[in-house]
Amino acid sequence: MNIKMIAVLAIILGVSYAAWTLFTGPSSAGEMVSKINIPEFSQVAQSGLVAYEENCAACHGVNGAGTENGPTFLHAFYKAGHHGDGSFVNAVKNGVHAHHWQFGNMPPVEGITDAEIRWITKYVRELQAANGY
Ligand code: HEC
Repeated sequence: MNIKMIAVLAIILGVSYAAWTLFTGPSSAGEMVSKINIPEFSQVAQSGLVAYEENCAACHGVNGAGTENGPTFLHAFYKAGHHGDGSFVNAVKNGVHAHHWQFGNMPPVEGITDAEIRWITKYVRELQAANGY
């Protein structure tokens, strides 16, 4: 193997890696989003924010940034087209079997009303919209 081939291989590897991270986003447990636009929340989303911080932020992070216990919602995975609003109801009532990340399973969240889940979903959607998701 000559030096040119090694250089070409290195470039191919570099480009593939960049494409992979671009496509998958932060894929390992523990990565968090650091720059978040906070929109002017609607009334419903403001109620959602309160319920979110009580019930979800421990894992999904303040402002949906993610923590070492759970993923950020500011990610292509959680766009409304991919994870519709029904996935929030399911996640909260039944928990989530780990499938996108390495955080482990999400346990069902107890003591939360259907209305609160709707408010939280609205809150997350407005946060996502303000950040291009
Ligand atoms: C104990 C930690 C924890 C708490 C508390 C928690 N989650 Fe999660 N949640 C997770 C983890 C971990 C995942 C990612 C599972 C995977 O896909 O690997 C997740 C995934 C999700 C998903 C995606 C579901 C899917 O179908 O992929 C939604 C929606 C969600 N959570 C909503 C919520 C809401 C709303 C709350 C608060 C009411 C909440 N979570 C509280 C840990 C948590």
